[in-house]
Amino acid sequence: MNSPAKAKQHTSLCALPKAEVHVHLEGTFEPSILEKWAVEAGVAMPRPRERLLEFGGLADFLHFLDWACGLANTADRLSELAYAFCQRLAADGTGYADVIINPTHWSAWHGRTRAMIEALDAGFTAAEQDGLPTARLCISLLRTQTADEAAEMVDQLVEWCHPRVAALSIDGNEAAAGRTGPRFADAFRRAGAAGLRRTVHAGESSGPEGVRDAIELLGADRIDHGVRAIEDERVVALLAERGIPLGICPTSNLTLNVYPSMDAHPIERLRKAGVRVSVNTDDPSLLATNLPSEYELARSTFGWTDAIVREVARTSIDASFADADTKALLKSQLSLWPSD
Ligand code: ADE
Ligand code: ZN
Repeated sequence: MNSPAKAKQHTSLCALPKAEVHVHLEGTFEPSILEKWAVEAGVAMPRPRERLLEFGGLADFLHFLDWACGLANTADRLSELAYAFCQRLAADGTGYADVIINPTHWSAWHGRTRAMIEALDAGFTAAEQDGLPTARLCISLLRTQTADEAAEMVDQLVEWCHPRVAALSIDGNEAAAGRTGPRFADAFRRAGAAGLRRTVHAGESSGPEGVRDAIELLGADRIDHGVRAIEDERVVALLAERGIPLGICPTSNLTLNVYPSMDAHPIERLRKAGVRVSVNTDDPSLLATNLPSEYELARSTFGWTDAIVREVARTSIDASFADADTKALLKSQLSLWPSD
């Protein structure tokens, strides 16, 4: 922040009532904590500290997540991460979040997903009791998993019916996995039938065909990224017609080489084409960003007025899996923004 005008803009965007619908718990580790845990465990850092957060694209980034999450090997560490996540929401002025967690990254918890959910739930509940914003979980499959693994995950989620869990999700690298919509269609259909919401990473490491599969084969209520839909006007039209919201993460798309610059980023073209867009962080600590900064990036690049910022924030709330009371409260607060 290098000028009073910028500082004022940041404060105003912090005060903007909003939800976050595309953020991974895996992306919220502070590098200093990772270093501390690695030293304690006698585990080597993947690269020197000053280059720890330099990623060579999505595949490299996902490998890093395996390393980082492998260090979170106690229930206390998970509860602390969940609590710290809610503190981050409060600092960003975010009233609610759907947070993605992908059990495949957390090696210490393999085969113990339920215990993992319980430990996270303890942290979120403690945060709620301390008056911090709340979050619900989107439990994620990895694109490279098998249909059987997906079926088992869905069976478990349906059996546990845990109130902290809002949705089934899928993330990971579609470029490495190929076209996998058909492989996961049955799992997503059963999850939807059992009352779970569905959110799908597509149109980041896949093109518009991945977005179409997310809609037509996986029944996505929401699409994470989805930006490469812009490469096919028929897919853009489908998103607009069906009102399927995109959880867009500008800095992530720049850092992980989806677009070379913000000028080339399609968020504004999608919005103008009638697609419901929201702004999100994806992996805030690891990408060194926060939600007000993401709004500021889009606002300053595309000259968004307050009315457009409000519309995008409203989409974030409507697109979230928060309960009706939380949504109504956030939207009534939003109608009063900006306050000066
Ligand atoms: N997991 C964490 N961040 C991700 C991203 N940007 N794409 C796919 N999977 C992810
Ligand atoms: Zn993501």
